[in-house]
Amino acid sequence: MHWVEGNKSLKDKNTFGFDVSSRYYFALRDPWYIKDLEDVVSISNQFMVLGGGSNVVFTQHYNGVIIHNQLQGVKLEKETDRYAWVRVGGGVNWHSFVMHCLAQGWGGVENLALIPGNVGAAPIQNIGAYGVECKDVMVSLKAHDLLDNKSLVLNNEDCMFRYRDSIFKNELKGRTLIHEVTFKLTKNNHIINASYGGILEHLDFKNISQPTIQDIAQAVVEIRQAKLPDPNKIGNAGSFFKNPVIPKEKFNHLKERYPDLPGYGAAQTDSIKVPAGWLIDRAGWKGKTYGKVGVYKNQALVLVNHGEGNGQEILSLSSDIIEDIYDQYGIQLEREVNII
Ligand code: EPU
Repeated sequence: MHWVEGNKSLKDKNTFGFDVSSRYYFALRDPWYIKDLEDVVSISNQFMVLGGGSNVVFTQHYNGVIIHNQLQGVKLEKETDRYAWVRVGGGVNWHSFVMHCLAQGWGGVENLALIPGNVGAAPIQNIGAYGVECKDVMVSLKAHDLLDNKSLVLNNEDCMFRYRDSIFKNELKGRTLIHEVTFKLTKNNHIINASYGGILEHLDFKNISQPTIQDIAQAVVEIRQAKLPDPNKIGNAGSFFKNPVIPKEKFNHLKERYPDLPGYGAAQTDSIKVPAGWLIDRAGWKGKTYGKVGVYKNQALVLVNHGEGNGQEILSLSSDIIEDIYDQYGIQLEREVNII
C-alpha cells in the first residue's frame, strides 16, 4: 500500500519527545480513507491509534502499524437560541478547538484550555481540569472499530465516563479510532465554573468579579503555565498518575499523621480523592532528576524528559515512585498515561 510509510520516526509525534520509530505508519487525513483502515490494519499483527501523542510513553520502537488520526474540521451542526451543537474532527488540536469556541462565543470548554492532545482522545480518558470534564459537554461521537471493521455511534451514556476513564479504556480498549466528536455548547447565559483549583483567587487578584468565558480560559492558561511544563520545551505527558481514590476511613487515618493532606469527595460518598501530586511532593520527589529524566519542579504529578531521556527511564522512575508511595502511605498509584 503506497500510502503506508515504513520506519517512521515518532520523535515529533509524542510529547515526551522520545526518539523511537514505527515499523509502519499511516496518516488518516480524510474520512474518505476510513474505508481503507481494514487493509491498513492487516499489514501487521499489531496496530495502535495515535492522536496528539500527549498521553503515551514509548518504551521501545513500535513493531506494528501506527494509525495517526489527523482528521480536521469544526462544523456547526445545529443551533437553538441558547445552544450550539458542534462537530469536530478527531485530529483537531484540543486547545485550538477551545480557542475557536471562545472566538465564536461558545461556552463549556473554557476550563479545559491548554490541555495538550487532540479532540479524538478527549473522550478516551475523559479529559478534565478545573472542575469540568469532557463528559459534561460531549453529546455523541463517531468511531471506527478496527477489529470488527465497523462504524460505531456512541452517545454520552454509552461512553461510560468516569474519572479519567471510559469504555475506550475498558471494553473498547485499543481497537477504536474516534473520528468525530459532537459537543453541546452554550451561546449565552454561560455557566461559569470558577470555584475550582485557584481560579477564584486568580480572578480576585486581577480584580475580575463577573468573569466571562474568556476570563476563565485566560485564568486557566495562566495557572497551567505556572505549574505545568510546556511540552515544546520540556518533554512530558501532563499528569503521569491518576489521583487515587481511597476509603474515607483510610483518609481519616492518614490525616492524623499528615494533618494538611488535601482530599476531595462528596459528603455522601465513602471515598475520598487524594492528590497524587501532594503525596509525591511530600515524599520528597519533586524537582529530582534521575539521569536524563525527572519529576517536574512545580508539579510533582508530572514526569519530564530533560533531553535525551527514554521511555525505559521514565517507566523505571515511575515504578520507583509507585513503590515509595505505597511504602509511605499504603496507597497504590495508577499510571494515567499509556505505556507502549
Ligand atoms: N500539590 C502539591 N504538590 C505538587 C502538586 C500538587 O502539594 O507538586 C497539591 C496542590 O497544592 C493541591 C493539590 O495537590 O492542593 C491538587 O493540585 P492541582 O490543583 O495542581 O491538581 P492535580 O490534582 O495535581 C488535576 C489533574 C490535572 C488538572 C488539574 C486541575 C489529574 C490526574 N490531574 O491535577 O490534569 O489540570 O487537576 O484541574 O486528575 C492531566 O490530566 O494531564 C492534568 C494536568
